[in-house]
This record gives sequence, structure tokens and C-alpha cells, in this order.
Amino acid sequence: MPGDGIGKAVLDETIRVLEAAGFEADYVEGDIGWEFWKTEGNPLPDRTIDLLEKHKIALFGAITSKPKDAAFAELAPELQAKGLVYSSPIVGLRQHFGLDICMRPCHTYKGNPLNFIRRTADNGFEEPLVDVVIFRQNTEGLYGGVEWSDPPQQVYDALMTHPKFVKNFGDTPKSEISVSTRIFTKRATERILRAAFAHARQYGYKSVTVCEKPNVIRETSGMMFKMAQQIQSAEFPEIELWNTNIDAQMMWLTKNPEDYGVIVAGNMFGDIVSDGFAGLIGGLGFACSAQFNPDTGIGVFEPTHGSAPKYAGYEVSIVNPIAMIESACMMLDFIKENKIAAKIRKAVADVIAEGKVRTYDMMKMRGTADVVKKGAASTSEMADAVIGKL
Ligand code: NAI
Ligand code: MG
Repeated sequence: MPGDGIGKAVLDETIRVLEAAGFEADYVEGDIGWEFWKTEGNPLPDRTIDLLEKHKIALFGAITSKPKDAAFAELAPELQAKGLVYSSPIVGLRQHFGLDICMRPCHTYKGNPLNFIRRTADNGFEEPLVDVVIFRQNTEGLYGGVEWSDPPQQVYDALMTHPKFVKNFGDTPKSEISVSTRIFTKRATERILRAAFAHARQYGYKSVTVCEKPNVIRETSGMMFKMAQQIQSAEFPEIELWNTNIDAQMMWLTKNPEDYGVIVAGNMFGDIVSDGFAGLIGGLGFACSAQFNPDTGIGVFEPTHGSAPKYAGYEVSIVNPIAMIESACMMLDFIKENKIAAKIRKAVADVIAEGKVRTYDMMKMRGTADVVKKGAASTSEMADAVIGKL
């Protein structure tokens, strides 16, 4: 599912890398994204859902989303009267297939000029090695979509049964209130926690950190932490359970990122903390992710970056394909092609360590169309370099 913008460029290059590494697969193209919203009024056509149902494993590039008014304006004229409302096809995929486990690893590549560095007491500097895997609950919480502006009367009445609502909001007219809910279920919370602990055990991480805010958000964050304590003591006694607040975690991640191993969080805090850690290892050109349903074996593997529309029109694609290549490695691990994944990761690491081939982001350039002339590698030159190592 290449999707929009730079999604296609990074996915094409990644498939070249997969083939060079000896991964044998037939690729079926799935339609997703803005083009299908404009022409069909649906960015996630049913045929794409059917394809994923059938084939189970997808590589996904990126899609473009636009605000409500722009979405309507770009809809084909004959569709405009139909009252269609744009909704994100990624969120749609997550919900349709229950892809509730989102995994976002952030690890330092030696020699990456974008690595986080820290000043030492003697005024030198050091480069802590980050090796963190964030498990983000992917379907519930603040992104669950249960929200209202000027809520329906029954909702308002229900809220008015809560003493804190009466005290803090009881004077405000209903029409001036917007509510976004943060719903956690035991089932999904247990699944993300268990996935995090199992990963820690499998890959030898010594700790699992629950990164929430249980001192303030007592019901949802509180439930997650309590369940983590139960799961840890009953099933994973050898793994330490740590508890951080999301705000403090965002501070700690630049002070001692090397201390953390597996981090687990609800949907929004997982989103935040994974972007934070991604910044320490090179940012969007390096941030990969997997989302899957362990029961069905359906998984979608994608870079966390978007479609970067302004770069999509360049004659030669300049964006860094490593986030997509790394996402494909996560796919390989998921389907137990671990040897091929390891081979590709080593090839990427070698290219970065050697430092001869660097995309514009690694050269700290602005992403203009002429970066290749100025010495930056293009998307396909980076893929060529990785293939060269393979
Ligand atoms: P973006 O991630 O597309 O781009 C932000 C900036 O990050 C780019 O301008 C570029 O400077 C840099 N960047 C992104 N990918 C890179 C790569 N592979 N190599 C080097 N630099 C890279 O986010 P933006 O601009 O906020 O959103 C653009 C569109 O993408 C929007 O329509 C948004 O809704 C959508 N989006 C889609 C996502 C997805 O498909 N999962 C995730 C985030 C945004
Ligand atoms: Mg994000």
C-alpha cells in the first residue's frame, strides 16, 4: 500500500532492498489514500480491506490527510452531494482489523550524524546508545473517536452526575463544551501490556516502563499500571516494572535515554513518547513502526512519517528510505524471516557507519530539490548503498 506522496518512493526502494536480500514474495498493490478519497469518496476502498484480509501482511508507505473543508473541496463534484465525511484510512485499518498493538523501536545507528549527544562534566560530549521499543495501544484512549462538541443531552446529563463535572463545568452552557473521551478497556490494556512484557523477555530487555500519568488520570492510567503490576508479578518476575509520568518521561528521555528498554503506554502518550525517542535517533527518516493483531496475524508495517507532499513532486526523490526499510525488517521479524531482517539491518548499519552515502536529512540540509547536486544521496542512491552492502 504505497499511498500518497513520498510513500510510493520509499516503498519502491524498500521492495528493491527486500528482493536483494533474498526475500521471496509476490507483491499485490493495495489502493489507499487521498487519490481514492477524491475519486471514489473513500480513502480505504473495500477492495483494499479484502486484500489485507486475504494476504494478512502489508507494507504501507504514507497517506495524505487534509482538514474537513479541504477534504470536501477536493472531492469529485459528483460525490460532493453525497454527504461523505473523510476519515483517516490508517485509523480505519486499525479499527477494522483490530490492529491494537503498535510497536515503535528507536535504536541508535553508530555514525548517524543525527544521533543525540550530551555534554559531559568535563565539557566534552558523549553519545548515549538508545535502544528503546515503545508499545503503544493503538485503538482506544484519546484517539478512540468518541467525542462531541455541544454533546447530546443524554451525554451531558450523564456528565452532570459526576460531582467534578458539576463543580468545574456545571456553569458552562452545553453548547460551549467539547468532550473527547479517554476510554481504556481491560482487554486491550492487557493485550498491550502482555505484548510489551513478552517482547522484553524475548529480546532481553531488563525493564518495562509504563509511561502514563496515574497520579492524575487515575482511572485509565491507574488501571493500566495496576494491571502491569499484576502481569509482571505473576508472569514476568525477572523483568523490572518501572512507572513514569509522560511529562517527566519527556524530560528524562534527553537526560538518560539509555536507561530505558521497553516502554508501554496508551494511545496518545505512546504517540508522544515514540516521537520523542525518534528525535534522539535521527527523526522521521529513521522512525519505523509495526501495527498488528496477534490473534489474526494481520500486520501493517509503516514508517511513522507522513507523505511529505512538498517533496513528492521532485524529479528525483530525496527522502530517506531507512524508516521504510526498517519497517520492512519489522515485517520480516513478524513473519519469522529473522535472518533476512538481520542481514538488512546490518547492511543499513554498515552504510550509516561508513558515512559516505547520506540523504539530505543526515547532512542537515533543508529538503530542497537541489540537495542531490549538493552531495546528498537520493532515495534510490541510499537504497543502492544498502543493496551494495547486501
Ligand atoms: P510528514 O512526516 O509528511 O513530513 C514532515 C517533514 O519531515 C517533511 O517535510 C520532511 O522535512 C521530513 N520527512 C518526513 N519523512 C521523511 C523522510 N523519509 N526522509 C527525510 N525527511 C522526512 O508530516 P507532515 O508534513 O506533517 O504531513 C504531511 C501529510 O502526511 C499530511 O497530509 C499528514 O496528514 C500526513 N501524515 C500521514 C501519516 C501516515 O501516513 N502515517 C503520518 C503523518 C502525517
Ligand atoms: Mg505521531
